[in-house]
Order: sequence, then C-alpha cells, then structure tokens
Amino acid sequence: MASSSALPPSAKTRLASTALLPVALNGKVALVTGGGRGIGAAVAVRLAEEGADVALTFQQNQQRADDVVDRIKAAGRRAIAVKADSSDPAAVVEAVNRVAGELGRLDILVNNAGAFLLGPLEQLSLEDFEQTVAVNVRAPFIASQAAVRHMSSGGRIINIGSNMAERAVFPGFSLYSMSKTALIGLTKALGRELGGRAITVNLVNPGATDTELNPADGPNADTINGFTALGHYADPADVAAAVAFLASPDGRYITGATVNVDGGFTI
Ligand SMILES: NC(=O)c1ccc[n+]([C@@H]2O[C@H](COP(=O)([O-])OP(=O)(O)OC[C@H]3O[C@@H](n4cnc5c(N)ncnc54)[C@H](OP(=O)(O)O)[C@@H]3O)[C@@H](O)[C@H]2O)c1
Repeated sequence: MASSSALPPSAKTRLASTALLPVALNGKVALVTGGGRGIGAAVAVRLAEEGADVALTFQQNQQRADDVVDRIKAAGRRAIAVKADSSDPAAVVEAVNRVAGELGRLDILVNNAGAFLLGPLEQLSLEDFEQTVAVNVRAPFIASQAAVRHMSSGGRIINIGSNMAERAVFPGFSLYSMSKTALIGLTKALGRELGGRAITVNLVNPGATDTELNPADGPNADTINGFTALGHYADPADVAAAVAFLASPDGRYITGATVNVDGGFTI
C-alpha cells in the first residue's frame, strides 16, 4: 500500500546515517523532476545518500516536496524544491537554469515526472494526447536540452519510462505506451550524440511500483502480480537503486540503454 510519507522508513534511516561520508556522488548536483513523492522522491533521497545535492520539481504539492527537501537537508546535503509544471516548456527551462544557478552546477538530470492518462481510444481527447506528449516526451527533451548547457564530462541524463513501452498487457494504454516508447528513441539518440562529451543517457523502465499512482493494493494488483516473475510490486527504492547506479561513476560505460526494473514483467 502507498505510504502516507514521501519516503520509505529504510530510506530515512540510511539518509541519516550516510551524512557527510565520502560517497560516489559527493560534489555532484542532481535535478529530479516530479520528486515530491513516489519514485521521484525515492530517487532524490537515494542520490542524496550517495552524496549529491538535489533539486526536485513538483506540480502542485509544495508540502510533500518540502518534506523531501527537509530530509535531505537534515542529512547534510543541499536541497531545493522548485514548482515547475512539466507540461510548460518555459517552466522546465527556468527550473533547470535556476537549479544550476542556485546549486552552482548540474551533473545529473532525472526526467521522472509523468502523465498517466488512460482510456479507450475513442474516449481519449486531443487534450489528453497533448498533455501526455507534453509531460512524458517534450519535457524530457527540453529539460535535457537545457541541462546539457550546464553539464560537463561525466554528466548523466536518466529518463524514467515504463515497461508498458515494451509489453501492452492491458487495453487503454495507447497514449501512455506511445509516449514512454518515445523515450527509448530519445535515449538512444541522445546517448549517441552526447557520448563524445562523456555524458551518458539511459532509460529506466519501472514495472508496477507501489506509489499513489499505482498502489500495490489497487484494483489491478493481483493481475499485475500474476504477470510479474517476482510476484509483487516494486518499492520505489528499487527503481531508485538502478538510477543511482547509472548516475554513479561505475555506470560510466553504459549509455543509450534501457534497464527494466519490473520484477520480470517483460520477460
Ligand atoms: N508507479 C508505477 O507503477 C510506475 C510504473 C512505471 C513507470 N512509472 C513512471 O514513474 C514516474 C513516477 O511515477 P510515480 O508512480 O512515482 O508517480 P506519483 O506517485 O503520481 O508521483 C508523481 C510526482 O510527479 C509530480 N508530477 C506529476 N505531474 C507533474 C508535472 N506535470 N510537472 C511536474 N511534476 C509533476 C508530482 O507532483 P505533485 O506532488 O505536486 O503532484 C509528484 O511529485 C512516472 O514517469 C511514471 O510514468 C511509474
């Protein structure tokens, strides 16, 4: 079941205990879009555990975003929350530039904020289409474009897609699957283009992950678990662990790749 807190208890404990230790991302600055809760919050916390200062964007829930910022700051890292709707391209660019300005640099961009608009083909509207493409495709493109102006060698762009890009198990996912599949192409093309600058670009495709978007006790959970080799939902921290590896120096030779964190759903 989705926790009422933005952070899993294990993450809170680890954060407190890792403050100021020399870890992989010391001195780096990360920006996580949609970092106020769910997967984005877990990623923000995990990158801070690894030593990074972390900025996160949110759409409307300032309190949740501030809670994540407070946790990170209490552990000795810098953190800021920026209200920036990913469907607004100007807001996305402004957020990237503000983070680089306030935190002094930008090394890691995690394009996590996502629109999840489902429904039968004939009932989906043009507005649904435009919102989905704006948040899930245009925002990662524009944020990447703005971010690489601040990144130097060793930079990281990590997109959060979905295993629904690879396996269309349920009806009603046309917009969502379409938009998340676009991230595969964007990731490969940017991986190729930015390789010469030693900036890597990768895609993490979560499977069902226990968040408010898709609670592990939701109406479709039993069906989803039945398709999943490991038989259960991911914890947001499971997705964050893959992101942290790709962001770390150990991930330096991985680019253009798609990493499924889906418990074997797409096997
Ligand atoms: N959960 C899953 O099962 C699952 C599976 C595969 C892929 N994913 C992908 O993982 C990502 C995160 O999903 P989640 O389950 O963690 O979602 P979530 O629990 O709904 O959290 C979404 C977060 O993103 C922010 N956000 C949403 N729309 C935004 C926008 N237009 N602009 C800026 N911020 C926005 C929200 O801000 P506010 O708090 O202000 O509303 C919130 O902090 C998404 O890209 C999703 O497609 C999730």
